[in-house]
Amino acid sequence: MITINQRIRENAEQLSAALEDHMMKVFAPDARKELRLFSAGEAAELLGISASFLRKLHFDSKIPDVHMTPGGRRHYSASDLGQIREILETTAKTAGAYKRGRREGDKVQVLSFLNFKGGSGKTTSSVHTAQRLALLGYRVLCVDIDPQASLTTLFGYRPEYDFLQSGTIYDAIRYDDPLPLSQVIQQTYFAGIDLAPGGLMLQEFEHETPQALLNNTQPPFFARMATALQEVEANYDVIIFDCPPQLGYLTMSALCASTGVLITIVPNMLDIASMSQFLQMSADLLDVVSDAGATMEFDFLRFLINRYEPNDGPQQQVVSFLRQMFGEEVMVAPMLKSTAISDAGLTHQTIYEVDRSQFHRQTYDRAVDSLNQVNDEIESLIQATWRR
Ligand SMILES: Nc1ncnc2c1ncn2[C@@H]1O[C@H](COP(=O)(O)OP(=O)(O)O)[C@@H](O)[C@H]1O
Ligand SMILES: [Mg+2]
Repeated sequence: MITINQRIRENAEQLSAALEDHMMKVFAPDARKELRLFSAGEAAELLGISASFLRKLHFDSKIPDVHMTPGGRRHYSASDLGQIREILETTAKTAGAYKRGRREGDKVQVLSFLNFKGGSGKTTSSVHTAQRLALLGYRVLCVDIDPQASLTTLFGYRPEYDFLQSGTIYDAIRYDDPLPLSQVIQQTYFAGIDLAPGGLMLQEFEHETPQALLNNTQPPFFARMATALQEVEANYDVIIFDCPPQLGYLTMSALCASTGVLITIVPNMLDIASMSQFLQMSADLLDVVSDAGATMEFDFLRFLINRYEPNDGPQQQVVSFLRQMFGEEVMVAPMLKSTAISDAGLTHQTIYEVDRSQFHRQTYDRAVDSLNQVNDEIESLIQATWRR
């Protein structure tokens, strides 16, 4: 006979050992992740110019040389793209034609990816949005407020080793002697993205908040994320919260700091039913928070359909049902279900990081197109709040 706690502990130990083994294979303890180079076609698309114009800029020596493959193809690093963008901007007729980040008077955009269901694609969509925006030249801060810290892992950290005791966003929002957020922010290997890591410590915030409310510790839980962000927000155009799959104090604090909310949703009836409960609960909780003095004004709220299979009849029905109900609140572009996305995830990568040659070309292109459309729609929402 074996007791359930013994069995679970054994399972936990086995799994932990196997995961560590896997992590060692995926990346050695001190091997840093590195961002790949981009082809001329990709570079032109990211800069918003044609491939022939990019070639001409090189021909006329208007822009610096970049890495050349033995086969004579140009490859661009993210910092090459940044330099070229600066040069293009100085020659542009209208300001901001190439540098689309925020200008004086524009408020920082704070986006929360939300849903209380795990596996609905919060982390996947938030990381892809962050990366696409960074590649387009935006200065992005990712904030991982999920104790499970999947986003932190995607950036090449091992939360259970690297930030076991300290170093997560928890340090900047805790009630007892919080640190300035700048002290927990990490520069990542991905040019243009900084990270406030997540980790198990974040769970403390859920445990400590009831007592802090009784003690009337200031600022209250719902204002603590916004307060922490104030110190650093001038350094970013966009701040992205990857929320945990629950409506706890962490999520509510992120919502109170947000200007835009993206609710990820898998289009099947079971998920819609649970989303209905989720929306009810959110509304009730947010009422309580508003009564306590929080102001929550979003520039936009959108439902982001994930794992969409265009040939699946029932899914199509669910999507059109959602569109009828919520109208423009359902994003036009869905995130397609794609093995390229899940396969990239297996090695802690995104579709923007993996090499196209590792995939079936059509599968890869379909996934990239779908994510670009989603992220470019999010970019236009951001631009719209800046009145452009
Ligand atoms: N569009 C998609 N196509 C295929 N797999 C996906 C897609 N979106 C997410 N996944 C996979 O589903 C799993 C859960 O997604 P994740 O983003 O971690 O969800 P959440 O953060 O909401 O818990 C991950 O393994 C991810 O790679
Ligand atoms: Mg997640």
